[in-house]
Amino acid sequence: MCGIVGYVGRSEAFPILIGGLKKLEYRGYDSAGCALVHDGSLNVYKAKGKVSDLESSVEGKDTHGTVGIAHTRWATHGVPSVINAHPHVSLDGEIALVHNGIIENYAVLKENLQKKGVEFMSETDTEIIVKLIEYIKTHRGCDLATAVRMALHQAIGAYAIAVIDKNAPDELIVARKSSPLAIGIGKDNEEFYIASDASPIAEYTKQVTYLNDEEVAIIKRGQPLKILTILNQDVEPNVQTIDLNLGMLSKGGFPHFMLKEIFDQPTVLRDCMRGRLMPDRIVLSAVENHKQRLLNARRFIVVSCGTSWHAGMIGKQLIETFCDIPVEVEYASEFRYRHSTVDKRDVVIAISQSGETADTLAAIEKAKACGAFIFGIVNAVGSSIARATDTGIYIHVGPEIGVASTKAFTGQTLALTMLALSLGHANGTLSEENYRTLIGELGCIPDKIDAVLKQNDSIRELSRIFTYAHNFLYLGRGYNFPVALEGALKLKEISYIHAEGYPAAEMKHGPIALVDREMPVVFIATHHKLLNKIMSNMMEVKSRGGRIIAIVTEGDTDVRKIADEVIEVPNTENCLVPLLSVIPLQLLAYHVAVAKGLNVDQPRNLAKSVTVE
Ligand code: G6P
Repeated sequence: MCGIVGYVGRSEAFPILIGGLKKLEYRGYDSAGCALVHDGSLNVYKAKGKVSDLESSVEGKDTHGTVGIAHTRWATHGVPSVINAHPHVSLDGEIALVHNGIIENYAVLKENLQKKGVEFMSETDTEIIVKLIEYIKTHRGCDLATAVRMALHQAIGAYAIAVIDKNAPDELIVARKSSPLAIGIGKDNEEFYIASDASPIAEYTKQVTYLNDEEVAIIKRGQPLKILTILNQDVEPNVQTIDLNLGMLSKGGFPHFMLKEIFDQPTVLRDCMRGRLMPDRIVLSAVENHKQRLLNARRFIVVSCGTSWHAGMIGKQLIETFCDIPVEVEYASEFRYRHSTVDKRDVVIAISQSGETADTLAAIEKAKACGAFIFGIVNAVGSSIARATDTGIYIHVGPEIGVASTKAFTGQTLALTMLALSLGHANGTLSEENYRTLIGELGCIPDKIDAVLKQNDSIRELSRIFTYAHNFLYLGRGYNFPVALEGALKLKEISYIHAEGYPAAEMKHGPIALVDREMPVVFIATHHKLLNKIMSNMMEVKSRGGRIIAIVTEGDTDVRKIADEVIEVPNTENCLVPLLSVIPLQLLAYHVAVAKGLNVDQPRNLAKSVTVE
């Protein structure tokens, strides 16, 4: 969701900016733009559509300059258009600004400025900030950094901004509140790179610092990085060495990132287990260091959004089963605004791939204020959510670029499984024998995923039959109920087919009314003590003409007698089934979307990292 890139240094900025925007394309956007200072001029270029449209639109124009900012916009205030695209520029044409986030009091600020004669061109909240900075700079006679700080005093909401001024061709000012911003520091402070995440920076420098809320960085070529709070207090930059696997940022021969990421799963789950899953025990430093705090919790509360919420639903069953501690699973967006009964006896588990989801971050802040202990399950190292937690587990599945989450879901589920097993063992609620059996079986999961992936060709063939559908139903029970929700979400995200997930037995309380010959129903019907009941539900669907696709355990002979299509997954322990049963559903959604000719990696309207409410 909105991407920011900026550069100040000795090289031509334009290729660095465009390359950076392309690395942020996965976040989702609808227009792009950039601004460069060259020979005393501020040149601003914008285009509706893709970064490649921006590139085509600047052919033959002056794109020189060693300082610049660039942006991909995901529309919030105002339609996707050239006028609403960023950068936005001051009235005198000297200052350019890009913004990620939402300025909530923009209407009041705009009215105040309009009363003073300031004119506006776009419908955006962003234009207000640049005009306010200009107004303050002109009327107070202060420098750009001071004007930025003072403008941000008045802004309510979320922002990551980058600002350049044609009168300061060696300088870039950036600031953040609730929206991520990374600063890369080149050799001898001769070059600086800024971006919404570290992926556009990693090829140039490994030295990165992340701004905290209400901090402003004054970045000047040849000078050490200076960070101030918006109240003008000095902050010592916390520079980290990042370790980003650049290979993960390419498609590696696959036609789409999503397919690559589905196929990455055996490898990245092994990475997630490395040093943690031993033959006879699970070692999680977060559990070792905070065992009593976790075991003494009166309850766990999971806060998350989207796919991460589905992983949380599996985590609930795992923790309640193995640790005998109650778990609630909350949508972060609801939890943050509801009356809270949270207190210091509670442990809040925040699950997030990106580590930047605005609602999840706000839910953490609320729980912290109530005294809860915060445990993070995060992919993006050094992200805002990772930094806001007391402890946690990184899932280490590498950057996930496809908007539809795949390997992060299995990574989160694996991390939650290791957490539940190690806590249950420490608690005495999981016997030594069961603990060892489950550890052994967990170690086999990556190989078993490989076996499911071998069916890719047959799942592709099967998917073609279903591109006609307008609706899909996904049904499962127990551990497979969240998998049904996740399968339905994958399909709707990328194929735009309406799909719903339900607990199989709930079918009779509504969804069965929708079943007819046009309605494919996916049953996740792996071996389970309630399998007979699921088979009864299948019969109910079949007798109403519904077309059944069943995910079954290898060797099944019963379900296949009822289902129209079956996809097998290897046998495993019941609590580990989601790690296998979700794989065919990821492939099914992917192939249906490809067969429909859709943009799988960047589906319409969706964003990878949802940094606004
Ligand atoms: C967006 C993404 C989803 C993701 C959700 C939560 O909707 O498109 O794939 O599951 O945000 O994101 P998080 O980064 O917090 O897991």
